[in-house]
Amino acid sequence: MKKIVTVVGARPQFIKASVVSEALKGKSEEILVHTGQHYDANMSEVFFEELKIPHPAYNLGVGSGTHGRQTGEMLIGIEEILLNEKPDVVLVYGDTNSTLAGALAASKLHIPVAHVEAGLRSYNMRMPEEQNRILSDHISSWLFCPTQTARENLKKEGITNGVSVPGDVMLDSVLHFRAVALENPEKRKIYETLGIIPKGYRLATLHRAETTDGGEAAIERIFDAFEQLPDRVVVPIHPRTRKLAEEALARRGYRNIQLIDPVGYLEMLLLTSGAKQVLTDSGGLQKEAWFMEVPCVTLRSETEWLETLEGGWNVLAKLETADILEKALHTQPDPSAREAQPFGDGHASERIAETVSA
Ligand code: UD1
Ligand code: UDP
Repeated sequence: MKKIVTVVGARPQFIKASVVSEALKGKSEEILVHTGQHYDANMSEVFFEELKIPHPAYNLGVGSGTHGRQTGEMLIGIEEILLNEKPDVVLVYGDTNSTLAGALAASKLHIPVAHVEAGLRSYNMRMPEEQNRILSDHISSWLFCPTQTARENLKKEGITNGVSVPGDVMLDSVLHFRAVALENPEKRKIYETLGIIPKGYRLATLHRAETTDGGEAAIERIFDAFEQLPDRVVVPIHPRTRKLAEEALARRGYRNIQLIDPVGYLEMLLLTSGAKQVLTDSGGLQKEAWFMEVPCVTLRSETEWLETLEGGWNVLAKLETADILEKALHTQPDPSAREAQPFGDGHASERIAETVSA
């Protein structure tokens, strides 16, 4: 059996790893390393519990910090583990600082890297995520692309060896856990708890550096738009944005915005599928909205997930009140634009597990 060290650290990575870890059972020995990039109970522990992810063998407890400090501390910790464990493969997900640290530590020790969600590009090098994904892709031996577009992006950079398109593991996780959530009466109470009814509210999340770096003015431009929408906007607030959001609420007294703590994945799937529309700067949530046929307004100037733009199911909005309002109110998705299945068949994790275990 192969020995695989998986490096995770941020919320979306726990969700992606949950389905691949399950598929690896009986095929490889997996050792889970949590960098500690996300550490609040509702940003980390809740996912391990709800999604039945094995307890990490190591938690580096790195926590928050500047990019250099955070990534550097992860590198030091991961290198030590890799020297002790001597795995055959290091598995990393997505585009966070934890991804880059895992890939770089392994690559320097000549341990093959498997990158899940390879080949995504925004072509905006100011994004920390774009830097992390390009660097990780270029030092990976297995590049698991969620879509054909991602494969094409890699080809443009001369990367063809080790590239495959198993599909998107997030589709696997939505298909699996949405059914789990629907069968759980406790989780389904979320609507009642928040005083909302399905299709009677919009759902928003905000955490990207491009959004929060704009400070008070940027958050007010966004919230001014939310305030004018005809349905309540529920906002599970990422800890990065909490202070900005709470202060904006206190200053401006918005009445149409319902800030709530981050929720677990099962409740989030229920909130997303029940929403009339999603407004977000999240990569994962854009796609989940698409999977569940909920129209999405992406609060960014570009997206890596071009497939979601087909037929207007996802539209980009500038971080300006008028543009957000215009897109939120007047975009009509085309139901006939959903025939293609660009994200695979919901079995990406099994293909990835087979390949890395062979
Ligand atoms: C990170 C990823 C981003 C991803 C996001 C998923 C990088 C560069 N960015 O962004 O790509 O979309 O995770 O959610 O890796 N904080 C807490 N508690 C926590 C975690 C964070 O309070 O458990 C606060 C801290 O103030 C911290 C800030 O959030 O400084 C940002 O956290 P960080 O992990 O650096 O980046 P994210 O914005 O979460
Ligand atoms: N998510 C969650 N609870 C929340 C907000 C988001 O479970 O309160 C899930 C969401 O459904 C998606 C993932 O977290 O699966 C996306 O993570 P995030 O937006 O933090 O990061 P990104 O995808 O932008 O990297």
